[in-house]
Amino acid sequence: MSVLIKGGRVITAADDYVGDVFVEDERISVIGESLDVGADRVIDASGKYVLPGCVDPHTHLDMPFGGTVTIDDVESGHVSAAFGGTTCHVDFVIQPQGQSFAQALETWHAKANGKALIDYGYHMAVTDVREGGSLEELASLPEQGVTSYKLFMAYKGALMVDDETLFRTMQVAAETGALVMVHAENGDAIAVLIEQALAAGHSEPHWHALTRPPETEGEATNRAIQLARVAGAPLYVVHVSCKEAVEPIAAAREKGWDIWGETCTQYFFVDYSFLERPDFEGAKYVYTPPPRPKEHQDVLWAAVKNDVLSAISTDHCSFSWDGQKTLGRDDFSKIPNGGPGLENRLHMIHEFGVRAGRISLNRMVELLATNPAKLFGLYPRKGTVAVGSDADLVVFDPDKRLTISASTHRSKADYNLFEGTEVTGAPEVVLRRGEVLVENDELVGRIGSGQFVRRARFREELKAPTAVA
Ligand code: URP
Ligand code: ZN
Ligand code: ZN
Repeated sequence: MSVLIKGGRVITAADDYVGDVFVEDERISVIGESLDVGADRVIDASGKYVLPGCVDPHTHLDMPFGGTVTIDDVESGHVSAAFGGTTCHVDFVIQPQGQSFAQALETWHAKANGKALIDYGYHMAVTDVREGGSLEELASLPEQGVTSYKLFMAYKGALMVDDETLFRTMQVAAETGALVMVHAENGDAIAVLIEQALAAGHSEPHWHALTRPPETEGEATNRAIQLARVAGAPLYVVHVSCKEAVEPIAAAREKGWDIWGETCTQYFFVDYSFLERPDFEGAKYVYTPPPRPKEHQDVLWAAVKNDVLSAISTDHCSFSWDGQKTLGRDDFSKIPNGGPGLENRLHMIHEFGVRAGRISLNRMVELLATNPAKLFGLYPRKGTVAVGSDADLVVFDPDKRLTISASTHRSKADYNLFEGTEVTGAPEVVLRRGEVLVENDELVGRIGSGQFVRRARFREELKAPTAVA
């Protein structure tokens, strides 16, 4: 199947030009001006942008968490992603304590079996290197294309690891060329604050934020940075939400250290006041780190503009309000932590980043596609529009108007974090490896056609940024 995308404005992290893109055998084979080639399918992209398919480096599909399981499985998550212009994501395999990494990986591969629409990779969330997986087994994961290790420095009594596990994992990563990712919050201090808040009779959703102050994120971010330096491992800090965490990342990058950070769409738009919404509606915004006071939003916009933060993910971890968030109606600490977002990252960042004049189109592509692909060993197969790259492409209509709503989104969640937001600009056609997945608001791709992608090691990626995998 060949496809010719004609006359679109091709936008990559570096370029912006009008041209034709010819796709054969799942990859981009020619890019040029007024190409005279026969194709099975011609898509007229005049007046539209041609963007690389977005890459979401942080999602949680079909994941047991907080006494329940995230409501989007691989199928609904992938459909949701495709409608939002995301054609590849990296999900978290969670190692249950006492289980080997191989067992955990097998479980996650089974969850995707027959359900994948977009391409996907896995990070390994390490919870236990004593009883379950060994450090040797951890070291073998990059051979299977799992080239990032994630550690939770919070969620005490559940996913949280101690500093020894964090540091030993970093040492393994320094040897194997994997990238270490941290959820950076001081879980011990937070556990004390939660216990004290509950003992004082505070049960409402906004106590989620009051028991996780920005300083607990700043402290853990700095601790992880310093430990990564000692271990000699590269570090990626996930879901940075506040000034206190941005500052140590900025200082480390200023010194040229191998430290990167991401923030997530919701931190630009949802602030602390959302948690105070009455009738338990605040529970919709209980995710971790919590929504911060509004002044942190400008800090985050500056950080993504100035490359202090290098990527924007969604941290899609969806629960319905009715029946899942309500598990914590009488106790904020029992509200499952997480929110939906996989479908609206490009809509929201285009509207409030690009159209509002905060970042350029090129920077948007870099934050949503190119940098996630580079950092996680997918580039240049994913994350750009180039000859030899996978034909993961978004024909984006910059004039299309959309009102974001749970009544029309494809996630199974019964609410949307950005409900009622009006945006101008949305994907019109979405292709993954040359197959049209979404066209004119219809799903046309085949469920089951998405593939697991073996990712390159971080160090290889830095050394060979131009080789097609
Ligand atoms: O609240 C969140 N972010 N849930 C997902 C798990 C995590 O911490 O990323
Ligand atoms: Zn987290
Ligand atoms: Zn997450």
